[in-house]
Amino acid sequence: MVDPRHATRTKKEAPADEAGALFRPDDPKFYGRRKGKRLKSTRARLIDELLPKLHIPAPAEGETLDLAALFGEEKRAYQLEVGFGNGEHLVAQAEAHPDVGFIGAEPFINGVGALLMQIEEKGLTNIRVFTDDVRLLLPAIPPRSLERVWVLFPDPWPKARHARRRFVNVAVLDVLAELMRDGAELRVASDDKVYVRWSLIQATNHPLFRWTAEKPEDWRQRWPDGFPTRYEAKQIRGAPHYMTFRLVGRGD
Ligand SMILES: C[S@@+](CC[C@H](N)C(=O)[O-])C[C@H]1O[C@@H](n2cnc3c(N)ncnc32)[C@H](O)[C@@H]1O
Repeated sequence: MVDPRHATRTKKEAPADEAGALFRPDDPKFYGRRKGKRLKSTRARLIDELLPKLHIPAPAEGETLDLAALFGEEKRAYQLEVGFGNGEHLVAQAEAHPDVGFIGAEPFINGVGALLMQIEEKGLTNIRVFTDDVRLLLPAIPPRSLERVWVLFPDPWPKARHARRRFVNVAVLDVLAELMRDGAELRVASDDKVYVRWSLIQATNHPLFRWTAEKPEDWRQRWPDGFPTRYEAKQIRGAPHYMTFRLVGRGD
């Protein structure tokens, strides 16, 4: 695996600014799967009965979410997990931090069903769910409201021609920087060396994010307060890398 401290762009990789805007007029799609196997009856029931209580509807243009109203009370802090997959990490975090409101975004409906099963089983009340591309939700999240953003094993899109599909990109970082509190963390995990290098280039070139690693253990070991994910356990593409980018230097 590459030592991420020596991340440099190779000729085959697209430059950072090719990542473009949050949505480009010519490239506005979510590229992942939205549906897998037919939903089992429990998951289908939960999607009908529980999801409407936890679901964040697609925001109207210019709308800003009232987070206290969303969670039914003011929470100590708010965190966002992008692409929660089957939701095991989101559930573990929500269980460990009942005073935090967690927003999870995942367009894959089978994963949403898996999350709902765990929410019901554990009786969790501090998770709300957006079942579409999180980029549609970001503009509605109040400025400076997030203390942490998790992006765990995002789809790697390793081919250079697909680089702009990678979630960690300049446009997303610009928006996240607006939504994060001073000192808040963006935590990104990936087992794909192209994605690791790409993320480091994107974030370390960004004036408002600083990579916090000081020694190899800082990226080789999962965060002490993190939890394993289903994808991570498979170690499909190589050893996982864990990157923390702190929001710094807003200077106002
Ligand atoms: C490789 S899976 C990893 C899932 C989970 N984080 C894990 O580690 O097991 C990446 C997930 O990100 C989701 N995803 C991709 N793009 C997304 C987006 N723009 N908004 C929300 N979720 C997204 C996909 O649907 C997929 O479930």
